[in-house]
Amino acid sequence: MAITGNDIEVAKEFLMKGELVAIPTETVYGLAGNALNDSAVLSIFEVKNRPAFDPLIIHTDSLEKVQQYVSDFPEKALQLAVHFWPGPLTLLLPKKQIIPDLVTSGLDNVAVRVPDHPLLLELLKELPFPLAAPSANPFGYISPTNAGHVNAQLGEKIAYILDGGESEVGIESTIVGFENDEPVVYRLGGLAVEEIEEIVGKIKLMPHSSSNPKAPGMLKSHYAPRKPLYLYERGIFPAGDDELTGYLVFDKYLEDIDLKYQRILSKSGDMKEAAHNLFAFLRELDTLPVEQIRAERVPSEGLGLAINDRLQRAAAK
Ligand code: TXA
Ligand code: MG
Repeated sequence: MAITGNDIEVAKEFLMKGELVAIPTETVYGLAGNALNDSAVLSIFEVKNRPAFDPLIIHTDSLEKVQQYVSDFPEKALQLAVHFWPGPLTLLLPKKQIIPDLVTSGLDNVAVRVPDHPLLLELLKELPFPLAAPSANPFGYISPTNAGHVNAQLGEKIAYILDGGESEVGIESTIVGFENDEPVVYRLGGLAVEEIEEIVGKIKLMPHSSSNPKAPGMLKSHYAPRKPLYLYERGIFPAGDDELTGYLVFDKYLEDIDLKYQRILSKSGDMKEAAHNLFAFLRELDTLPVEQIRAERVPSEGLGLAINDRLQRAAAK
């Protein structure tokens, strides 16, 4: 088990030495290291068992600092940054040389964000470098939304877990890149597309694919529990299951199924609550004595798009 606490001085000390620290963010917990230090960045890939072609997001505490790491800031990128940072938005922008190629897997763009978590912002303010941080889970598994999740899987391999409580948003940041200075969504996430469109107008969604060289990490099978997960249209589950199945339902419990085998994302159908619960409930279902998980799609509105995206990927074979 890693030492767990909420002392940013301790976290800072480890990070300054090039060691890794799990950090709380409003989206999910991150596995962080000094983004400007090649050996720290390498250990991130090792600890996560992550392929080197899958680049990392860097985190810092202000737009001014982000500007030290990127060489161009299109007008619409700036509007989004001003509007949504700190928050669950990651921007893909051309990197300056100071950002190691290891961080971007050799790509010209670096993914940057200013996370919205008070403890983490305090830490970032004190650090003389940005933090490279993927989600703090073994590659391919469900992202962690509390310190216990991190400890359960990576506790042996990291120096310190900075415990900032439960991640409020519960799914990863929305990633936005630019084509001819026009924004394009590369990964659906914790900031709803509708909210982005209120600021910059209609925005293109990148079809998700594992062969897209611009977003090598958008692998199809991702966020997956260990048990097989089957995905269904809303309300249409197969009849006649026994207790060997765990159910993830959106807003209504299934009548004929024992409650202990069900998790309900939001009784009131609230998408934010559903997103907040998604990964924690998938983990719970994964640890129940069941052989499979059945989940239903949620309505495709607001964060529902990102939730369905995660369910789809969890279900991919
Ligand atoms: O909410 C989040 O974004 C969390 C917290 C910790 O900040 N981080 C996170 O990181 O989800 P990760 O590594 O699990 O997912 C980052 C995604 C990957 O799919 C990666 O391929 C993509 O961002 N990415 C990173 N840098 C990129 C780049 N330069 N170009 C294209 N895609 C990039
Ligand atoms: Mg991840």
